[in-house]
Amino acid sequence: MKQIKDQLYDFSFIDLFSGIGGFHQAMTQLGGHCVLASEIDENCTRVYENNYHMKSAVNIRDLDEKEIPDHDVLCAGFPCQAFSKAGKQAGLKDKTRGTLFFEVERILRAKHPEYIVLENVRNLVSHDHHNTWNTIQAVLRDCGYRLTAEPLILSPHQFGIPQLRERVIILGKYDPQHIDTPLYIPLDAHRKKEENSIYDIVSPEPVDDKYTLSPYEIKVLDAWDEFYQGIDRKVIGFPIWADYFRYETIPSEYPGWKQEFVRKNIELYRRNQTFIDGWLERYNQLADFTPTHHKMEWQAGTKISSLWEGVIQMRPSGIRVKTPTCFPALVAMVQIPIIGRYRRRLTVEEAGRLQSFPNPCRTLTATNESAFLCDDNDQQAYKQFGNSVNVEVIRQCALSLFANN
Ligand SMILES: C[S@@+](CC[C@H](N)C(=O)[O-])C[C@H]1O[C@@H](n2cnc3c(N)ncnc32)[C@H](O)[C@@H]1O
Repeated sequence: MKQIKDQLYDFSFIDLFSGIGGFHQAMTQLGGHCVLASEIDENCTRVYENNYHMKSAVNIRDLDEKEIPDHDVLCAGFPCQAFSKAGKQAGLKDKTRGTLFFEVERILRAKHPEYIVLENVRNLVSHDHHNTWNTIQAVLRDCGYRLTAEPLILSPHQFGIPQLRERVIILGKYDPQHIDTPLYIPLDAHRKKEENSIYDIVSPEPVDDKYTLSPYEIKVLDAWDEFYQGIDRKVIGFPIWADYFRYETIPSEYPGWKQEFVRKNIELYRRNQTFIDGWLERYNQLADFTPTHHKMEWQAGTKISSLWEGVIQMRPSGIRVKTPTCFPALVAMVQIPIIGRYRRRLTVEEAGRLQSFPNPCRTLTATNESAFLCDDNDQQAYKQFGNSVNVEVIRQCALSLFANN
């Protein structure tokens, strides 16, 4: 691969399971040009075409490897699947047959591009008692690739991007004579979770009304903030569940962990009875709150002193409050995190920034031609960013791979 200048190379790449092009962004920032993309989700392929002016709508299973253009880098965020039991008895070359990883393998055996950059959930490493991971490593080596000595598990927060999202990145260099020599991948990825701030990504600028909280949500969160201010402990190591406050005895049929948690709630109530009785009275014994809002988990220690300073998730399992250092992983998520300080949800554009897409926007103008045009449906756009790779993490990994190997 030819280096043009610092952090810039002349190369071609293919983008498999391309989604909305997280890999595409990272590779083009390093100077690459895409020669093929493959994706089956229609919404993703529309967004891909809008942004990169190329079609990606092809099922990888329908790609004839002989027709795939030559390329220097193969990128793939392949779905994780267990390899079949039949495959366990079969030879290495047949172990992955039928899975989507097999499609990647098939292309590698036919094209052996110089580099590979793959991404997957962290769980891939422990999946199926490590069988999946061991097979993937063995297959990639069998295809002629040198790999890192250890799985490369990285999260954007280590690079100063305020999102906790651990993923395994698999890097490889085609070098059949030296498959046992590990790759050298130095990275500047040392930032701790608490050294990040969500305010690097979100801003106080006014946003569309659709992101602001409803009067009901504000009432629920105000109630829990008042509760937190009124009780005698600031570090709470268990979920507060109002339904258990007035239990006289702990049900013996509950499992041990639940008995413990009910006991702590009863103790909390008894220590703060006057305040909590008044609080329940003011909020109509929580009768107007949905059952999931009877529960609150304070996971912010003493870093903040009000719920309105935290990152809040209104989950089916209850309300959860965390410090505003990092957002939880954007996954194809139903509950979009709430930024307490601004009393609103994370916007689609901010979700894009959290995945390091350049200037995510809803309409292109003459002044933002390099911007990323998001899906115009919010649910789709959140889902797509949630499924995507973090662009900057991939860019830095690929840069280190190209520069040092
Ligand atoms: C984890 S996402 C990868 C997202 C992508 N790396 C990005 O940055 O946006 C996996 C993608 O694989 C796609 N997919 C699943 N089966 C496929 C197939 N047979 N052929 C092509 N794409 C497929 C899914 O639709 C999904 O968008």
